[in-house]
Amino acid sequence: MKIITVTGYKGGCGKSMTAIHVATYLSGQGDVVLVDGDPNRTAIAWSERGHLPFLVADERKAMKVVQGRDYIVIDTPARPDSSDLKELADGADLLILPTTPDVVSLGPMLQTANDLGTATYRALLTIVPPRPSHEGETMWAELSENGIPVFRTMIRRAAGFQKAALAGVPISALSGRDRLGWLDYEALGKEILEVLSYE
Ligand SMILES: Nc1ncnc2c1ncn2[C@@H]1O[C@H](COP(=O)(O)OP(=O)(O)OP(=O)(O)O)[C@@H](O)[C@H]1O
Ligand SMILES: [Mg+2]
Repeated sequence: MKIITVTGYKGGCGKSMTAIHVATYLSGQGDVVLVDGDPNRTAIAWSERGHLPFLVADERKAMKVVQGRDYIVIDTPARPDSSDLKELADGADLLILPTTPDVVSLGPMLQTANDLGTATYRALLTIVPPRPSHEGETMWAELSENGIPVFRTMIRRAAGFQKAALAGVPISALSGRDRLGWLDYEALGKEILEVLSYE
């Protein structure tokens, strides 16, 4: 059983989006449960609007359903303090820290990395604006230069994600241009399996 926790100091940076789509990717690899610890219950509401290809459980009921699963993906609220963050890291095989590519996010991310020490974590750039913007690459380079492990894959900003949310399905269930964002989470999923394989 592998536990993947999605967390970070900032709200609205794509944590729930990432938890849902990482769980979608992993559901092609094994038996997955997404534990919804977001106070807005984003993933539960999403699955109730439509259908997700994995079980979504309220964090208060998680103990009953995690037994024997291949992957547990945990969505969390924003702003854990530094001791919460260490607890989350200790309880997971991999911590994913989504961040948007803007200067105000850099400081909190450096602080988070500092709090995490040697835990297994990766930053993930999300809601990355399309070209001609270079904000994604610029932030990626900035994080790398500061010694922060960052997934090579960045998640593009795309309207398909909102459409998927409305329909209550993963973006992989959409077609045409609306589905393009899936390519990013698919590439991310492969990177995650790599990281977990040498954990
Ligand atoms: N790649 C993306 N492209 C476009 N919109 C996105 C993308 N990722 C997330 N969003 C949108 O941004 C908003 C915040 O995303 P999400 O709910 O995943 O963030 P969060 O970090 O879980 O927020 P919170 O801290 O409130 O739990 C949502 O409206 C979501 O639909
Ligand atoms: Mg959320």
